[in-house]
Formats: sequence, C-alpha cells, structure tokens
Amino acid sequence: MSNPLLKLDGVSVNYGRIEAARAVSLEVHEGEFVSIIGSNGAGKSSTLKAIAGVVKPVAGAITYAGKQVHGRGPHEMVACGIAMVPEGRYVFADQTVEDNLILGGYIHAQRKGVASLRGDIDRIYDLFSRLKERRLQAAGSLSGGEQQMLAIGRGLLSKPRLLMIDEVSLGLAPKVLDFLFPVLKELNRQGLAILLVEQLAVQALSVTTRAYVMENGRITMSGPSAQLAGNPAVMEAYLGKAA
Ligand SMILES: Nc1ncnc2c1ncn2[C@@H]1O[C@H](COP(=O)(O)OP(=O)(O)OP(=O)(O)O)[C@@H](O)[C@H]1O
Ligand SMILES: [Mg+2]
Repeated sequence: MSNPLLKLDGVSVNYGRIEAARAVSLEVHEGEFVSIIGSNGAGKSSTLKAIAGVVKPVAGAITYAGKQVHGRGPHEMVACGIAMVPEGRYVFADQTVEDNLILGGYIHAQRKGVASLRGDIDRIYDLFSRLKERRLQAAGSLSGGEQQMLAIGRGLLSKPRLLMIDEVSLGLAPKVLDFLFPVLKELNRQGLAILLVEQLAVQALSVTTRAYVMENGRITMSGPSAQLAGNPAVMEAYLGKAA
C-alpha cells in the first residue's frame, strides 16, 4: 500500500493526570473512509483533537502527507488540508448560515477574496439544499440535523483532503443519519478521506470500510468494518452501550 495520508504512531494525550489517549497508532490512506468507535470517555475526541492540533500530545508522532505535523496549531492543520467537525457542532449561532460558510472558507478568502468562495458555497448548497433555503437565517435557529449539515459544509469549505467528524449522530434522530451518511459516502467516493468518530458502532461500521475500536484510551481492535461488525467481541463491548 502507498504511504498513508495520516499516520499516528504512539500518540498519547493527557489532561493533567488523566490519560485520555494512550499510545494510539492508526492510519488513514488517501481517499479512505475510516471510523474510530468506542463508548463514552474512550479517548476518541482526544485523538481527533490531537490530530487537529487542538491539544498537544505528550508522546508519539503524527505524520500527515509525509510531514511530521505534531505540535502544529489548529490553523496550520486546516491550512495543511485537515478539517474537523467538532463534537457538538459549534456553529456561530448569531451569524447567518451563509456567514458561517464564509468563515469556513476564510483561508481561501484571505488568499483570493470572498467572491472566490461563491462557487464553493454553491456546491455546499447543492449538497444540502435545506441550507440554501435557510441561507439568511441565523444558524442558531436551525434544527440539530441542519446545524450538523452546516458544520460539515463549513468544514468542506476549507477544501480538506481529510475530513474528521466527531460524533455526527450526537443528539440527532436516526432519520437524519439516513440522509447524512449517504452524503458522506458520496464525498468519499469523490476522493475525500474521512475519519469518522462514532459511539453508534453499527451505523459507523456500515458506512466505513475500515475501523478502529477504542477502549480506555487505547486502540483495542482494528480491521475491515464488515469484519468488526461480525465480531462478537465488538458487539458485546459496544453495541449494548450504543443502542
Ligand atoms: N478537557 C478535559 N479535561 C480533563 N479531562 C478530559 C478533558 N477532555 C476529556 N477528558 C477526559 O479524557 C477521557 C477521554 O475523553 P474523550 O472526550 O476523548 O472521550 P470520547 O471517546 O470522545 O468520549 P465520548 O464518546 O463521550 O465523546 C475521559 O476520561 C474524559 O473525562
Ligand atoms: Mg467524544
């Protein structure tokens, strides 16, 4: 296989004395759709935050597109081509839908001007027509599912090669996932690498091709998603909690 787009080698994240992620090693290849599953407090978000440059690992190495990137801040990671849709979405509630999208494209707007974003924003509206209808509405007035669409759209406007999504399902009705997951699948089909963090193991394994299972800060299992979905140990450990 070619060199991975993203590689974590023994990455550990601490919060004071709490060891949130312990010696995490994982890879995402160009154009892959990978998930990290695991129950509450397993260390999934901490791992994504380390990749996004939001927290600094206390040990290990992170390589992206062949370069050592650990220690870089979040802005640098976005500029490198990694976008993160954080847990809880965090849209700018008082700003309009369109302004939230413009903010997502700020790196490109800085280089080429806001007008250059028009085509990119229209592509997001093609993907999520509900956002187009609500483009002048305050983001805070959107439903949870629509806010998730906006958060994903905002992430896409930084033109990432790797999109990381933390807990896409959080607080949403299962019906919304029936819509969001096919969109993610289509984006992946177009070549975008996606790293999806989920507590809902069955759903995550059904949409991704490969997955890592996290437990108490460590990766405990990994493999093709279909294989993990059929593994009684995965089912036993996680599905009960995820249901
Ligand atoms: N800012 C923080 N300060 C202190 N401890 C933290 C902080 N963030 C996370 N932790 C702790 O680190 C551990 C891992 O948390 P993390 O958020 O990475 O888990 P998670 O797998 O994303 O869980 P969830 O599915 O509930 O989102 C937990 O024990 C959590 O309490
Ligand atoms: Mg989390």
